[in-house]
Amino acid sequence: MERRLKLTVNGQEVEVITDPTKPLLNVLREDLGLTGSKEGCGKGECGACTVLLDGKPVTSCLVLAVQAEGKEIITIEGLDTFKEYPVLEEAFVEEGAVQCGFCIPGFMVSATYLLKSNPNPSKEEIREAISGNLCRCTGYSKIIRAIERARDELSRMLVRGDKNG
Ligand code: FES
Ligand code: FES
Repeated sequence: MERRLKLTVNGQEVEVITDPTKPLLNVLREDLGLTGSKEGCGKGECGACTVLLDGKPVTSCLVLAVQAEGKEIITIEGLDTFKEYPVLEEAFVEEGAVQCGFCIPGFMVSATYLLKSNPNPSKEEIREAISGNLCRCTGYSKIIRAIERARDELSRMLVRGDKNG
């Protein structure tokens, strides 16, 4: 049965009348028009639907909409509030890590979370952070290189900022 759900998405409170047992992913895409998060498997296996829920990456196809009530949801459309995101975007392009692009929103969410919570990750930590994200096109080496490139650029930005500040 449908009911009113209050959600906080990308910093905005929104109300939606929907089936609260629907996956959060479907509410985001169908009820809120936020189609950046993709549905690959619908079973928690591909990571294309990854969003941040109270700051942590989750596969939104496995979260019921009602479970997200009262929590902060950040989708790919809201990632630009993190300084890591534009740096990652540029690094993915520079490294040629984007082909069809279907998986990229999920990778961006996972990688933004990683660099925000651990600004100097090792290759192994990068591998671990994206282990829930599948890409059928690129192999993973370009994606890993892109995240390393973003990590290094963010460190340089920090040093430059420190000098200026
Ligand atoms: Fe959610 Fe694949 S669509 S993990
Ligand atoms: Fe096509 Fe990753 S770029 S699935």
